[in-house]
Amino acid sequence: TTTDSRVLRAELLSFDADPGDDDTPAPGSVRHHPDGAVWIENGRLRAVDDYATLAPDLPSGIEVIDHRGKLIVPGFIDSHVHYVQLEIIASYGRQLLDWLNDYTFPEELRFSDPDHAAALSEAFLDELLRVGTTTAQVFCSSHPASVDAFLAASHRRGLCMLAGKVLMDRHAPAGLTDDVEGGIRDSERLIGDWHGKGRLGYSLTPRFAPTSTREQLDATGALLRNDPSLWLQTHLAENTGELDWVAELFPGSRDYLEVYERSGLVGPRSTFAHGIHLDQEMRGRLAERGANLAFCPSSNLFLGSGLFDRQAAREMALNVTYASDVGGGTDLSGLATLKAAYQVGQLRGQPLTAWQGLFGLTLGNARALSLDDRIGRLAPGMDADLVVLDPAATPLLARRTAHSRSLAETLFALMMMGDDRCVAETWAAGRLQHRRDAA
Ligand code: GUN
Ligand code: ZN
Repeated sequence: TTTDSRVLRAELLSFDADPGDDDTPAPGSVRHHPDGAVWIENGRLRAVDDYATLAPDLPSGIEVIDHRGKLIVPGFIDSHVHYVQLEIIASYGRQLLDWLNDYTFPEELRFSDPDHAAALSEAFLDELLRVGTTTAQVFCSSHPASVDAFLAASHRRGLCMLAGKVLMDRHAPAGLTDDVEGGIRDSERLIGDWHGKGRLGYSLTPRFAPTSTREQLDATGALLRNDPSLWLQTHLAENTGELDWVAELFPGSRDYLEVYERSGLVGPRSTFAHGIHLDQEMRGRLAERGANLAFCPSSNLFLGSGLFDRQAAREMALNVTYASDVGGGTDLSGLATLKAAYQVGQLRGQPLTAWQGLFGLTLGNARALSLDDRIGRLAPGMDADLVVLDPAATPLLARRTAHSRSLAETLFALMMMGDDRCVAETWAAGRLQHRRDAA
């Protein structure tokens, strides 16, 4: 067997624990090597250290890629995004329910065509890698072939991806609805074909309470009970119009969360997108089950949904993940997501440090998604998924970061000003997956 091996030399930053919300990260939470090196071997990280410490151990003739002046961090993770909405990003002037009817459902109908699904899967993955995102939890459409296309494309690139077929048996156009039996049969077939194949996982995907009958939610919960290695993704308490509709459709449930609880959908591998309009008691119930809320700040601002209360979630020890929620979100970039999260935090008196933000995009998201045994850190044995960031990517960024007195200042400038131009290279499974075009 041949060994595929190389070293990247650069400044390294990774987290071993939650840095907390203070300006100074919690002791032991940050791993920082100003002149560091990652030794990639057969898709994994073989060693991560100061370059000077690692150099004597390197075999002669090994390729050393010199990225000094740049910053290597773990590949970014997006906990909630819709690949089928790529082309309706930035559609003007609606809140959630009108936006779904006017833009989203017509667009998702196009994914009945497997060729369209295949083309958009490739385009979406190109865009993710361009912004440094190496793992995402992805909504496909209700067409099983949309999942086949996306996971096949992810598998060919060696990516760690979670995805699932939307389950929705009411309140959507005929070409998008399934039924209880058909939705479960299709999900089971997809789980058999994809769950645990290479670096892929299956995420059960009931769209949200209004588009599923109680019977469909119950049947989904039964699948989850039978196989706790499955993930689950849905939406929760995003918009006040949605809340009213759920109260009307499920008069027997005392609140929105209870609709999901009754069907057994709330567990340690469940991601609830948004979770803006909740009280502390509901946050406590989510935390107790080990579920996570996906904070989707650019989407929440774009659709006018509300200001996510990050501090209230943290008070209840409820896991918060960071997500783009494209096409509701306006940017796939994890750095852009953090910028929007910072802005939401400012309006709530809950500023987000760059330490907490970068932790969230990497180890924080990995942990909340139960993927931290494989991704989220630069450490020996982890999968080789990483981003090479360029803190001088634009003339203005170069000016700003030349001026930085600390790593924290440079990270914060990247978080405020960063986009795809800051991503010099993206590596996943030890392969170079994206290189920024020479200017
Ligand atoms: N709620 C139900 N479906 C969707 C969706 O596609 N996007 C967002 N943002 N919220 C939803
Ligand atoms: Zn969403």
